[in-house]
Amino acid sequence: MEDRIVRLDRIYILAGFAWLIFGMMFGIYLGITDQLQFANSHAHANLLGFVVSVLFGLLLRNWPPLLNSRLAMPQFVIYQFGVVILVAGKFDIDSGGRGILAPPGAMIVVLGTFIMFWMFASAEYGPNVTAPGLSR
Ligand code: HEM
Repeated sequence: MEDRIVRLDRIYILAGFAWLIFGMMFGIYLGITDQLQFANSHAHANLLGFVVSVLFGLLLRNWPPLLNSRLAMPQFVIYQFGVVILVAGKFDIDSGGRGILAPPGAMIVVLGTFIMFWMFASAEYGPNVTAPGLSR
């Protein structure tokens, strides 16, 4: 039971749903109010926030060695933090600002993605490798 609550694959997918609900409500808002200049920040919240978070969660779910990595939780925190900063920067740009948060946000997102790539590329795979709480 405890494993089901704290497992990072589940947390990742829940974070993705949070981004999706936010992104959809943002989409409804910008559509109703005819503020289509925010389409870019809406798209990044949905694509980097929802789509990629759920994909990362499914990667963790389907490749159990990734859940054992000490980099797994830092990767999650760095990636999610980066998307928040990047979307805030995009929102500023769409509002007519200079978007100073966008470049650092983009770099943090890339860093988080590189860490996931590294975890995936360097993980040990074998018939007996399992993760805690995984039944198969
Ligand atoms: C309730 C759900 C959603 C609503 C109401 C909504 C609404 C909108 C609106 C009003 C636009 C601007 C269209 C225009 O510029 O003419 C837009 C653009 C866009 N949306 Fe959504 N959307 C929703 C969900 C999503 C989801 C789930 C994704 C991706 C996973 C997504 C990706 C995009 C993309 C890529 C664009 C184009 C961005 C651009 O032109 O820069 N949307 N959406």
